[in-house]
Amino acid sequence: MERNNLAKAVRMRAFSEGNSKTGSSSSSSTELLVYLNGEFVPQSKAAISVFDHGFLYGDGIFEGIAVYSGKPFRLEEHILRLFDSAKAIDLRIPVNAKEVARAIKDTIRINKLVDGYMRPIVTRGVGTMGLNPSYCKKSTFVIIPLRQSDYPLMHLNDRPARAIVSTIRRNPSFCTPASAKTLNYLNNILAKQQANASGVDEAIMLDWTGLVSEGTGDNLFLVKRGHVLTASQHCSILPGVTRTAVLDACRNLGIRTSESELTLHDLYTADEAFLTSTSLEIQSLIEIDGRQIGNGLEGSITKRIKRKFDEMKEKGE
Ligand SMILES: Cc1ncc(COP(=O)(O)O)c(C=O)c1O
Repeated sequence: MERNNLAKAVRMRAFSEGNSKTGSSSSSSTELLVYLNGEFVPQSKAAISVFDHGFLYGDGIFEGIAVYSGKPFRLEEHILRLFDSAKAIDLRIPVNAKEVARAIKDTIRINKLVDGYMRPIVTRGVGTMGLNPSYCKKSTFVIIPLRQSDYPLMHLNDRPARAIVSTIRRNPSFCTPASAKTLNYLNNILAKQQANASGVDEAIMLDWTGLVSEGTGDNLFLVKRGHVLTASQHCSILPGVTRTAVLDACRNLGIRTSESELTLHDLYTADEAFLTSTSLEIQSLIEIDGRQIGNGLEGSITKRIKRKFDEMKEKGE
């Protein structure tokens, strides 16, 4: 949407509706404004049709973007992944990459968000009850802002995490594409249920061949003899933006990395392990399937990478 039209849409919906709660600040008592198909709508009024195929069939894609000091972290990478996800499921995003970036920045600005989270979602749009996507004429494009306090975090408060290996596998590339961030998270939810039932924080998922892939909403890193390892892109991972930032951080710190095929043996015998995602950032993992990783404490290499990552956040790198 053009800048002027966007500004007009904001004025029309947010302010002419007398949304006095939303205009002034981003304190926790005010209602945030959701970007909905080019307009800003108070979150309690932001609704889409029950005939939207995102709702009916999970036919859509999304992103999760951290906002630090009012700036979206690695926005360009998130937008590239959004457009790759769209290509992977042959979905038309109704605006171009520049306009997506602008809509995200406008959503931050209008909500006066300082630290928070942005959730752009594009669905196939409203269609008939049948699953045929060709009846969906117009995609739905939504950006949901959250304050940091409302983040979908694992909320571990710096406590190291414990995990199990799930029996639920990541989809192979000949099924729903694992490297696209689609609205189909049921495998991951089933794996998370197993983690919940086992009383641990996270489930590690394998790919269909039994190689280690990633967590339910995060990438996995191992440290072995000073060498940082993570599953290669062909092991059904989502190519995480935080994963790339961590690989960049390691390069900066002169730590050797490799993206490779990891086995359960690599997992159980790692010296250190940690998970990465937009919402978790870097979360150390000290137990898998009841086995202690390393000495059961956050590892020294994990600590160094965390420090570097914090610097990168501050500098917006
Ligand atoms: C399945 C999965 N893997 C990995 C990640 C980490 O990706 P990012 O670092 O871009 O948040 C996510 C987060 O959205 C995810 O859902």
